[in-house]
Amino acid sequence: MDAAGLSDFIVVANRLPVDLVATEDGGREWKRSPGGLVTALEPMLRGRDGAWVGWPGIADADVEPLEQDGLLLHPVRLSATEVAEYYEGFSNATLWPLYHDVVAPPVFHRTWWHTYVKINKRFAEAAAKVAAPGATVWVQDYQLQLVPAELRALRPDLKIGFFLHIPFPPTELFMQMPWRAEIVRGLLGADLVGFHTSGGVRNFRWLASRLAGDHVRGTTASTGSRPGEVDYDGRVVKVGAFPISIDSAALDRLARTQAVRARADEIRAELGNPKHVILGVDRLDYTKGINLRLLAFHELLMDGRVDASDTVMVQLATPSRERVEHYQQMRDEIELSVGRINGEFAKVGHPVVHYLHQSLPRDELAAFFVAADVMLVTPLRDGMNLVAKEYVACKYDLSGVLVLSEFAGAAGELTSALLVNPHDLDGVKNRLASALNLPEEEGRRRMRALRRQVLTHDVDRWARSFLAALGRPA
Ligand code: ADP
Ligand code: F6P
Repeated sequence: MDAAGLSDFIVVANRLPVDLVATEDGGREWKRSPGGLVTALEPMLRGRDGAWVGWPGIADADVEPLEQDGLLLHPVRLSATEVAEYYEGFSNATLWPLYHDVVAPPVFHRTWWHTYVKINKRFAEAAAKVAAPGATVWVQDYQLQLVPAELRALRPDLKIGFFLHIPFPPTELFMQMPWRAEIVRGLLGADLVGFHTSGGVRNFRWLASRLAGDHVRGTTASTGSRPGEVDYDGRVVKVGAFPISIDSAALDRLARTQAVRARADEIRAELGNPKHVILGVDRLDYTKGINLRLLAFHELLMDGRVDASDTVMVQLATPSRERVEHYQQMRDEIELSVGRINGEFAKVGHPVVHYLHQSLPRDELAAFFVAADVMLVTPLRDGMNLVAKEYVACKYDLSGVLVLSEFAGAAGELTSALLVNPHDLDGVKNRLASALNLPEEEGRRRMRALRRQVLTHDVDRWARSFLAALGRPA
């Protein structure tokens, strides 16, 4: 921060890294925000003395800027209607399903779009107000795709990066969007647009030349880790793939602590010391394939290929977007499945599926990762999936088997996992059965390779490569 209180490095994201939540005694307290974006960005930004512009997580909250552990937080206010239309509506009932292969039908509403435009302008204005001359502003994710162009119009002196944390869809799907040209032009306001995978880069380059019309003079493809370029409106916009990661070393250290190891033993004991512990950890989202993994487990029990007396499944699910209809429906379906499996296979005091609709503290989560023999990560589509990387980072003793969907961005890097097509139920059943019976030596070999990848490609490396491509020394 300079003498005028302006910052040189700013992250702009829909949510602040902490959420304001109501306490039982009628007060309010700050809690860590849900999701992978915060997991990745918070350690990166704390180490860089930056500022963060975002929504404090509840409607109509007037919160003054504040400092938390060296990080400057600039809250953006949203009214209840704006939350309903910009966040629950356009962001999570239009863009989210459209960008995740329409696994649920996207809803297109003009009023939601108008509110999305209005709120993107508000975020751009908030960032413009706190940025020092020539500052770097890093805009995050699908909720804020118009911010780069809005911010450039207000502050042409800034260096603007944009990173999409979810998949960028195939062009045929993106073309359904009534406001497709506006979104592409919004993104092209950045100096660098980053995606998780080279597929996203290709889709975006094609759409830029198709939809930004006369303003695009030419494009060059990205090669290896070098971003491609789009000549747009007399500027060069770089477009590249930057697979995000986690603070792997910190998680590895946490998993090795005596407290976490003891808690992992305790968890296994609390589960009845079964031979196999299968774990799922997700935000409760219909893209995560939670129900299909429950179905695979259920069928394996019914087929007699898995024994309920020596195997338990634990599903930890952070509550998410609870007022959006698809999420309510999916929660009901999952809870029905859990009830059904336990109804048929549990014994009194010994459920076969343990389901917690709760967000757990980091050390408790690490203990679950340490305790689990098989980690099931089965999204139908996922930008990256940090949970898969977190599991690997916690398996310092090379135990454990990762079953990973081919449709998670992480599958591009974690090729030694047992990869699976989540649309193929028999395939998921077979993969889960082989994970439970994997020879120890093969398991250790696979985990060693996975750990090499995750420990060397951490979130700091991700941030450095993005910022270097943006032209800011990291
Ligand atoms: P997304 O960003 O879609 O939520 P990711 O897998 O990339 O998916 O990131 C999810 C993050 O949320 C991870 O850091 C994970 O550890 C955390 N998380 C998921 N479920 C829980 C839970 N029940 N309690 C605490 N943290 C959770
Ligand atoms: O990229 C996934 C993402 O949508 C992030 O933007 C966000 O941090 C996370 O999931 C959690 O979602 P929400 O902010 O809607 O609770």
